[in-house]
Formats: sequence, structure tokens, C-alpha cells
Amino acid sequence: MKVSVLAQNLSGSEIIKIAGEINELKKQGQNIANLTIGDFDSNIYPIPAELKDGIIDAYNHNQTNYPPADGMLSLRESVSGFLSSRMGLQYPSNQILISGGSRPLIYSAYLALVDPGDWVVFPTPSWNNNHYCDLTGAEPILVQTRPENNFMPTAAEIAPHLKGATLLALCSPLNPTGTMFNKQDLEEICDLVIAENKSRPADQKPLYLLYDQIYSQLTFGDHKHYDPVTLRPELKDYTVFVDGGSKCFAATGVRVGWGFGPAGIINNMKAIVGHMGAWSPKAEQVAMADYLKNETFVDTYLEKLKADIRASLSTLHEGFQALKADGFSVDSIEPMGAIYLTIKIDYTGKATPEGQILKNSADVNFYLIKEAKVAFVPFSAFGTGDDVNWFRASVGASTLEDIEQMIPRIREALNKLK
Ligand SMILES: Cc1ncc(COP(=O)(O)O)c(C=O)c1O
Repeated sequence: MKVSVLAQNLSGSEIIKIAGEINELKKQGQNIANLTIGDFDSNIYPIPAELKDGIIDAYNHNQTNYPPADGMLSLRESVSGFLSSRMGLQYPSNQILISGGSRPLIYSAYLALVDPGDWVVFPTPSWNNNHYCDLTGAEPILVQTRPENNFMPTAAEIAPHLKGATLLALCSPLNPTGTMFNKQDLEEICDLVIAENKSRPADQKPLYLLYDQIYSQLTFGDHKHYDPVTLRPELKDYTVFVDGGSKCFAATGVRVGWGFGPAGIINNMKAIVGHMGAWSPKAEQVAMADYLKNETFVDTYLEKLKADIRASLSTLHEGFQALKADGFSVDSIEPMGAIYLTIKIDYTGKATPEGQILKNSADVNFYLIKEAKVAFVPFSAFGTGDDVNWFRASVGASTLEDIEQMIPRIREALNKLK
């Protein structure tokens, strides 16, 4: 049956293919450590108890009808306070939009800013910008980043692509790498955006910046989160932030996202989110509004979540560093934020005991799934070439014990490759 050109051209997710393979092996009774999904196992990482109680209470008080299109005022005010106290960002409630998780914010920002054929610049590896370009007919301009720079983009890499572009989409801490912008690199990129906009005539659409900071509360040790508007206040008129509670409260299924930016753009995004009906459920909004106001609850929860996630990431990182020290062709980058570790497994071209040559990172991944019972996601799923031998390991759905136990299995599996 004929469907739209857009529907025909939507690309499937490589992660779903990997999930299919894992499910097949699980059906055969095998136990695979699944480090592929950017999610939490809610039995290992439950949402904050006070948030859960608040949601139940809101349902018991029949908070079940349509919420306002831009979100409950009480929540927008709580978010405004949260941004001010945690990041020093000043956004009143009319510059904040609530939606059903943060994905509708990204999609509505694209729809509000980008016309079909417009250029959208984003560094790779990157999470889902390719799909939002497909959905809006935008022309994606991929900027390859390098492991030497923790797979974060530099101004020098981005500079050649900004002339005439409509949107620069950045994310920090970054999915898939768990690495972050340092102050200087982000400042230099901000200065490029400012210079580009100064060079444009008033009747031309400016270059906008989409800044996804959904992992900003999940940073480790001395790694500090930076944002463009704090570093360069004049970018406030051009920057739309994507943020929300999905990751910092391990609440991916609760669906409360918040975006903020210039009032006019937020108003356009509100209309788009409204037509999609992509609001956050009212009871969840009522509960999140109360929860965010209680700094002690939030701090206590974040401290534990960060400590547990960091312990898992560090254990995995140390495990890979030990393999590297023993001469294996692997590497990993120090975890800085989010729930991800960046791992190198450089075994393309090697042969399995059955004589199969591993042609690319996807083959290496499927080999590890079968032999080591561990599943990662190759960076090719995030827009790099499949010759890039780096992978994302997501620790939100595994216990520390699971992670400790997988390193010897990886060692054994890699030892069998010739
Ligand atoms: C960088 C980034 N932004 C946005 C999202 C979407 O989050 P949500 O579940 O709130 O839609 C994700 C989810 O994985 C993400 O990794």
C-alpha cells in the first residue's frame, strides 16, 4: 500500500535491530547483559518516592483532565525556580514549555525553526538529530568529532558549516558518549554563532542553537556543566533549551519534559505540541511541580543516583583500562556525565573461532552479544561511519554486580579472536 514519501524514507533504528537479536537469545534462555538502552531498570533505579507518592495523590484527587497547552502554571513556576537555583538561568514561566518528556520539545523546536531544505548542523555521534531532520525535511550537516576531544565538537570543526545554516544542535553531557563540553570549547562555539548572526541581514532567519541538557544534573566529580546562555548572555534570543525529568529522576516513563527559550519561539512550540497532543499527563505535572520545589528531596535523590551510576561507569571504565593494560585492543574514556561510557573495541578484521571475519563494529557487537553475553551500541547507530570502532555502554539497566561479572566474559571472548 502506498504511503507518504516521508514514511517510506524514515530510517529504522539500529538499536532496535540489536534489541531483536538480544530478545532472540533471551527466548533461547540466555542471559544477556543489556547495555544498549538509554534507560533505567526501574527496579534497580526507582523514581524518587516523594514524586511517586505525589503522582498517586494527584490521581486520587482526580487531576485527570487536559492540562494547559504550555503546562501547569505551578510546574512552569517550579521549573523557573529550579533553573534559577541550580544553574543561575533566569526564565519566567511564559518562556517555559512543558511536554510529554523532552522528545516533543526537540521535534517542536525543529518544526518551529526549520523549513524543509534548511541546514541543520550537528556533531556526530549524536542522538536522533538525523531522525528529526528526516521528519522536518531538513538537510542534515554532520560534523564528525574525534576521540582525542572526547567526541565533543570544537569550534574549528563546526566553523566551516555555519554559513547559511538555520540550526546548530548541541548536547552536553552527550548521549551517546557521557562526555561533556569544557568551558573554552563551548565559549568558542558560542562566539561562532554570535559572529554568524551578526553577519546576517535583518530579513534573514538567524542561526538558532538547540541545546539539549537533559543530563545536566547527572555529572560526576569536578566535571561541571556549562550552557551557552550563561557563557554568552547575548545568545538568549537564539537558544532553545531541551531539559526535563526523564534522566535525572530516572523517570523516563513519567513523561515530564521542560523546554525554555525566547517567548515567541516557545509560543510557537506550544501550538505545535498542542496540535500533537504531546502534553505531559496532568497528574505527573502536579506531582513534579511539588517535587522540584523541595531541594532536600531533589539533592538526596540526585546524590544517590549519581553515586550509583558513577560506580557502575567507573567499574566498567577500570575494567576496560585493565584489558588495555594487558594488551587488548580496547580503550575507554573517563565517565563525566549521563549514564554512558564510551568504549573502543578495535577488533574489526579479526576472525572468530568459526572463521567468520568481523567486518565492522556491528559484527564485533553481535559477536560480543553471542560470546560474552554483553550488548553495546556501535557509534554507527549515532551517525558515525561503521569503521569507527567505538561503542556506547549504558549502565542504567544493570547492577554493579552485573557489570563486575561481564569484564571476564569480554576478556575471554576477545581472547578467542584471531
Ligand atoms: C540527549 C537526549 N535528549 C532527549 C532525550 C529524550 O528524553 P525523553 O525521554 O524525556 O523524551 C534523550 C533520551 O534518551 C536523550 O538521550
